[in-house]
Amino acid sequence: MRGVGAVMEAGRGPGGPCSCGRLLGTHRARGVELRIRIACAKDRDKLIRFYESLSLESIYTRFFGIVRYFDPYVDSLLRNSRAVVVVAEAPDGRVVGVAEAVGDERGYAESGIAVLEDFRGMGVGTALGEAILRVSRECGFRKLYGYIMPENRAAYRLAMKFGARVVRQYESMYRIEFDLLA
Ligand SMILES: CC(C)(COP(=O)(O)OP(=O)(O)OC[C@H]1O[C@@H](n2cnc3c(N)ncnc32)[C@H](O)[C@@H]1OP(=O)(O)O)[C@@H](O)C(=O)NCCC(=O)NCCS
Repeated sequence: MRGVGAVMEAGRGPGGPCSCGRLLGTHRARGVELRIRIACAKDRDKLIRFYESLSLESIYTRFFGIVRYFDPYVDSLLRNSRAVVVVAEAPDGRVVGVAEAVGDERGYAESGIAVLEDFRGMGVGTALGEAILRVSRECGFRKLYGYIMPENRAAYRLAMKFGARVVRQYESMYRIEFDLLA
């Protein structure tokens, strides 16, 4: 069996499932059409701006801590050959939501998702969730997992909509998982 690294390497070529810029769908919210697509290296500044625009509370629920400088995080994400980043982009180029899958050598990928406060409750998280699950499967990951706080009702609801399993419960977080080979 080819490793996930090789599958992703092949899939990153033009027209491949993990190719930069690939359009995965569109979603209408706040009267505009958002493009759901795979991010490219040139999206670096937009991604940093996106994370900087989140409230402290959202940063905390997304990263389980306070992050002040997003440049190193975004750089390491975009340089990682086993990572796929999906963005929801407004017509003016602003990124309003991001979902990520960062894989390891076993083919397991850790996921994180966030939507700007102004665009919540309008299906953007659902569109991104659908896109990251699809791309993760197509790019050869076997599992997608993530961590959420038990009180994070929106994230919990979103995960359950797509059939996630809660595989571990700690006092302050759940580990949820999707089996992509099933
Ligand atoms: C989790 C998050 C991405 C959801 O984004 P969103 O765009 O609001 O999601 P959607 O509009 O697609 O809603 C998804 C589901 O959650 C439900 N939901 C949304 N907000 C909710 C809330 N505040 N309380 C309870 N359920 C909520 C929706 O009703 C929907 O379920 P339904 O389709 O059965 O009605 C967003 O809340 C967020 O960015 N949170 C901060 C970052 C974070 O916590 N990330 C998760 C950990 S990595």
